[in-house]
Amino acid sequence: MAKSSGKAILLGEHAVVYGVPAIAAGLDRGATAVAMGAKEATIRVGERSGKANDGSELGRGFGALLAAIGAPPCAVQVDLQIPPGVGLGGSAAIAVAAARAVLEWQGDRVPALERVVDAAMAWERVFHGNPSGVDAWASAHGGCVKYVRGEGVKPLRLARDLSLAVGVAGPPASTRVMVEGLARLRDRKPEMVQKSFDGIESLVKNAILCLEAGDLVGLGKLLDLNQMLLAGLFLSTEEIERACAWAREAGALGAKLTGAGGGGCVVALTDGDPAPVLAAWRSHGLTCFESVVESGVERKPE
Ligand code: PMV
Repeated sequence: MAKSSGKAILLGEHAVVYGVPAIAAGLDRGATAVAMGAKEATIRVGERSGKANDGSELGRGFGALLAAIGAPPCAVQVDLQIPPGVGLGGSAAIAVAAARAVLEWQGDRVPALERVVDAAMAWERVFHGNPSGVDAWASAHGGCVKYVRGEGVKPLRLARDLSLAVGVAGPPASTRVMVEGLARLRDRKPEMVQKSFDGIESLVKNAILCLEAGDLVGLGKLLDLNQMLLAGLFLSTEEIERACAWAREAGALGAKLTGAGGGGCVVALTDGDPAPVLAAWRSHGLTCFESVVESGVERKPE
């Protein structure tokens, strides 16, 4: 059974598209997939299914993934364990698990990370237009990583476990639409957007120091500051701001949107016990779960 992780971007989303480093944490749930020989190339993800290049996004994505691998027709079944389309890298998790399953079916028992990511990126380009690659790399690698566009991931050695609470703050927005919206703002106000990116870059640098030193209080403050800068770029919503405020009132060390924004998920850093944040969110009707990113292990990809 091939596996992949979902991911939460801790800092640096959007700026990562323009070369700023981002920090992503692999979630302890994601996707699993199996592949087997078949006359037609088909993919099934839960209830949805598509044939390679049948015109649907799913079919085109699968066609691109198989072409990148150079694989003959096969049937792939994917099971996704995270909510799709809310900024947790569901699309990349599906692509990474599917690519691993196809490569394993072809006899490559431990597919190289680069091969898996290459195929997953072919899929991601169908869905996202101009993806930075952070989702595919974080999903394929797992653990906590620093990602720079064009350079890939570097695992971060955490001094302490990260206890995260992840909540769905509102209906998702399309990543493509959010990325294009920011590109238009950058065309109109390049200096203002560059100042925000510079700010995010220094938050990311400080966050790496906090992660390596186990300074969770400092890290939480940096998440809050990143949220402020993202809101200044019009990427937040009232629902996201409310979910962040509820998390902080319940004792979270910091909270922010994760992924494309405009809706979707919020991530909160807790002091080790996510229960009060999860209870606060549930009392307001939010779907949510906890995820632990373990310290001390430079995780090897599955
Ligand atoms: O919402 P997601 O999970 O697709 O994350 C998007 C992250 C962005 O930085 C906004 C876009 C990208 O390609 O990196």
